[in-house]
This record gives sequence, structure tokens and C-alpha cells, in this order.
Amino acid sequence: MLQSKIVGVGHYLPERVVTNYDLVNLMDTSDEWIRERSGIEERRFATFGVDTTANMGTKAARIALERAGLEPDDVDFIVFATLSPDYYFPGPGVTVQKELGIKTVGALDVRNQCSGFIYGLSVADQFIKTGMYKTILVIGSEIHSNGLDMTTRGRAVSVLFGDGAGAAVLQAEEDPSKGILSTHLHSQGEFADVLCVKAPGNFKEKKFYEGMLEDFDMIAPQMDGQLVFKNAVTRFAEVIYEALETNNFTTDDIDMLVTHQANLRISQFLQKKMQLPDDRVYNNIMKYGNTTAATIPIVLSELWEQKRIKPNDLYMLAAFGSGFTWASAIIRW
Ligand code: UT7
Repeated sequence: MLQSKIVGVGHYLPERVVTNYDLVNLMDTSDEWIRERSGIEERRFATFGVDTTANMGTKAARIALERAGLEPDDVDFIVFATLSPDYYFPGPGVTVQKELGIKTVGALDVRNQCSGFIYGLSVADQFIKTGMYKTILVIGSEIHSNGLDMTTRGRAVSVLFGDGAGAAVLQAEEDPSKGILSTHLHSQGEFADVLCVKAPGNFKEKKFYEGMLEDFDMIAPQMDGQLVFKNAVTRFAEVIYEALETNNFTTDDIDMLVTHQANLRISQFLQKKMQLPDDRVYNNIMKYGNTTAATIPIVLSELWEQKRIKPNDLYMLAAFGSGFTWASAIIRW
């Protein structure tokens, strides 16, 4: 059986830096509140006319391909994870295919929010294991900033999110002890309404109903933060231990824990529970906020740039978010 390995990672962040102090000018909030509750200090916001969800994904993908020593034409398949597509349909996977100039390879769009990149990785892993494709691009890209309620009414959510993109290139690996060792996917739809954006959608007779633009509870993200937090800490731990047990590892075996960056307090809780030293955990929520599907590939790309991705190291990736969906992937680099 073939394994799949990540042979290149890349990321792209919009240039515009928005600090907590910038948000204080827009709503009743404070740097202290945001920093204490979430760890976030600043985030990036896309620039209209420059950044799109697809083109940020393409930029990240080009870097990942270059680092892998590959050309766009080497790509056999594209998996694109986002909750903030450029169009209602089609999804951005096809735009990346066009922007990369890759003839007619398949492009699949994944909609699993914060877990989207790991879900995408798992799909790509299965295609490689069966021998159907040799080289797959997995992309996570998000533009949240233009859909957030940037008034005091929306502050509980809007201070948390940022824009960005990341990508990974996967290829087949013959050594069974290397590459993606296993992936674990879960969801619990009974909590779908706990963290969501509903409009435009079919929950109304008309997708675009009168008054929709003023219906902020429907068009802006809604979240029961405390309920999400409680479920996140439980599910993160569960899915990490599930991956460890499946492969007969313990927490001591983990060289780097890469958790989805939704709240620094969640990551710190997990680090403490698993008794991991600081150099075996990576957090960047301070700089970028929550970039949902883009977070994990951005982290991987930063680790690569810092030369902290080493052959044979064991990487534990885990995510939790809207759906609820949660997932993990364990990788021997
Ligand atoms: O990406 C998907 C996964 N997402 C997550 O995992 C997020 C999980 N949840 C969280 O990270 C936290 O629940 C939050 C960071 C969202 C909120 O932290 P919290 O400690 O749960 O705060 P809270 O929602 O209980 O709000 C506490 C107070 C409230 O005021 P009262 O009712 O105590 O008077 C809020 O109205 O803070 C108020 N508040 C704010 N104050 C200043 C809410 N947002 C803000 C804000 N600035 N931006």
C-alpha cells in the first residue's frame, strides 16, 4: 500500500495588518479583552481588487510547488478547502486550476470550515493510496474580513478572524513508516447552528429575502463561544489520542503539535494536558487570528521556513470547528 507524503508547503498572507487597536476604533472592544480571551494581537485583512480566496490559494500553491521542485503541470488533482469562496458557485478549486494553467485536472471543493484542510488532506491521502493520483495540491484559503460584522453587535466573533492561505503538495511514498500514517474525521451535526452563517440559504423561502442585508444574525457569523470552547477542548484531545492509539504512539513521540488556531487558550490547554514543552508546539494565532481552513497549512509553511520540519519527525495535526467537525492527521515527515 502506498503512503502519501507532504513534499512542499507554502502560504500567502494579505499585506494589510489590522491590530487590536485598529478594531477599537470600530467597536466597543479592547486590546486587553482580545489578547486575554484569545491570544490574538493582530490579523491580516485582504485588499479588495488584490486578494481573492482563489488567488491567495494559488499564490500559496505556487510556493508549495516550487519548494517541492515541481511544476503546475505535475499536479493531477486539486482539493480546495474554504468556507469563504469567491462565488456562491462554482467553488474556488476550478479558479486555481485556471490560474495555475493546468489543463483539465479535477478540482474538488471541501466545506468543513476549521477542519477543512485536514479533511482535504485525508481525501488526497486516499486518492494517493489507491494509486489514482500521484501529485495532489491541498489548499486552504479564506477571506473572512469582508463578511464580519465590524460593529459592537458582532464583536464576539469579528475580533477573532483573519484572512490567509496555505497549501501542501502530496506525493506517493513507498516506505510505510513515512508520510501520512492515519487521518481521523468526525462531525456532530446537532451543533450545526452553534457556529454558522445561514444566509443566503434555503432555510428561507427565498435565498435573497427582503431585509436580508439588515439581518445580521443571518449574514454574519454567529457563535456560542463558550459551547464551542467546551466542545473544542474535549474533541481536540479525543481525536489526538485516537491518532496516537491507532499508531501505538504516546504523547512523548510527538515532535510537533500543530493545532488549528482558534484560541491560544485552547492550544495551551492541550499542551498542558499532553505535557508538551514549548518547542514541540507551534502557535501563530497572535499574528493572524483564526484563518479557519488556512490555519494548518500556514503553520506548516512557517515551520518549514524556520527549518523546524525535519525528516523522521512526527507531526500531529488537529482541528475543530463549525459543524461541529473535527479531525486529526499524524505524519512521519
Ligand atoms: O474556529 C472555530 C472554533 N472556535 C473556537 O474554538 C472559539 C471558542 N470560543 C472562544 O474562543 C471564546 O468563547 C471567545 C474568545 C469567543 C469568547 O471568550 P469568553 O471568555 O467565552 O467570553 P464570553 O463570550 O463569555 O464573553 C464575556 C463578556 C461578555 O460580556 P458580559 O455578558 O460578561 O457583560 C461579552 O459581551 O465579554 C463580552 N465581549 C466582549 N468584550 C469586549 C464579547 N466580545 C467582546 C469583545 N470585546 N470583542
